[in-house]
Amino acid sequence: MRNKINIRSIFYTITLLLYSAQWISAQNLEISHGPYLQYVTSNEVTIGWSTSKNTISWVEYYVEDGSNFYQKEREKIFDASDGLKNISLLHSVTLKNLKPGTKYAYRIYSQEVKEDRSFGKTVATRVYKREPLYFTTQPLKKDQISVVVLSDMHENTAKVGSLLKGVEWDKTDFVLLDGDFVDSFESESDLYGGVLDTCVNIFAQKKPLVIVRGNHETRGIKAHELKKYFHFPEDKYYYTYKIGNTFFIILDSGEDKADSDIEYNGFADFDAYRSEQAKWLSEVVKSDEFKNAEHKIAFMHIPPYDDNRGQEWHGDLEVRLKFVPILNKAGIDLMVSGHTHHFSFQTPKSEENNFPILVADHKTRYNLLIDKTGIKIKGIDIDSKEVLNMFIEKYK
Ligand SMILES: [Fe+2]
Repeated sequence: MRNKINIRSIFYTITLLLYSAQWISAQNLEISHGPYLQYVTSNEVTIGWSTSKNTISWVEYYVEDGSNFYQKEREKIFDASDGLKNISLLHSVTLKNLKPGTKYAYRIYSQEVKEDRSFGKTVATRVYKREPLYFTTQPLKKDQISVVVLSDMHENTAKVGSLLKGVEWDKTDFVLLDGDFVDSFESESDLYGGVLDTCVNIFAQKKPLVIVRGNHETRGIKAHELKKYFHFPEDKYYYTYKIGNTFFIILDSGEDKADSDIEYNGFADFDAYRSEQAKWLSEVVKSDEFKNAEHKIAFMHIPPYDDNRGQEWHGDLEVRLKFVPILNKAGIDLMVSGHTHHFSFQTPKSEENNFPILVADHKTRYNLLIDKTGIKIKGIDIDSKEVLNMFIEKYK
């Protein structure tokens, strides 16, 4: 009997301790995800992260000069809109007016805001006895640009880890997820546990992450909220990004089936969206900034052409009809797509695409090396084996 009582009391004690531990951790303020860098140009950077409780948040930063973070008061930029500091679980701070080609040290801070609007604890990335985080702005002129492309990762973190082995981070300008990094956006764990935390652990605290929306990011009950988690320069999933003399166009190909398809439950309106985007694209290619760029590269999840002639779906035909005629007149050097999970390379054809299209598969990392001679493309598989090595010569 005595033994039974002891066992029972030990059981109750352990249960109580477990509940207390859970309660304490639920009470703790912590940086739950990030920080991750986005949109690093010659004069700005955006830093995103999330916290376990509602906070106001800010970034402190300085030009790396070998000094310690604690040496003096550092410049602070708050996550704020319309004159008020944002109170949120998700945080985004854009640092502007930075110097080109300069290494900066940064640190993120979040201070709890309780329900009665009083302040609680503050958390920050650690700099005590350890290096702060760094980013480097792009120089105004750049001879070589190196981009890493992953497509259709579908929340497979182990694969992301394997594919990013051996990347020379010092030489890499950004990593681009060419769509379908989530399978269906049902909860935050699909995004963070899916791919984003892995990107943060491997590179995104020091190198920017560029997001292309794929058709799978448009699915799930949180699909409408994807924008809250990433920085899109004009608050649109289609945008441009310029480094040195290279101009990147990021397009959103939308869903792959007709809007009325049963799979979309009546929520899809992509035909009108692609038409609106085509209007925007035709203005982009008229701009001096675009025309004067030396290299012009487009990213779009669904390829307008692939090895599937006669078997196209509605999305393929839409992007072919609405975007390709504009791009054909614009002197595009390369388009990089994904979606099919199969590698193919579409050479320029006079009646179709007059620019090359690389269709990335889902088990290869593609390294693009862009310089004045052209674009070198390397494909590296999950065993770090080179499976593709090709060169697109710059048309003079
Ligand atoms: Fe897809």
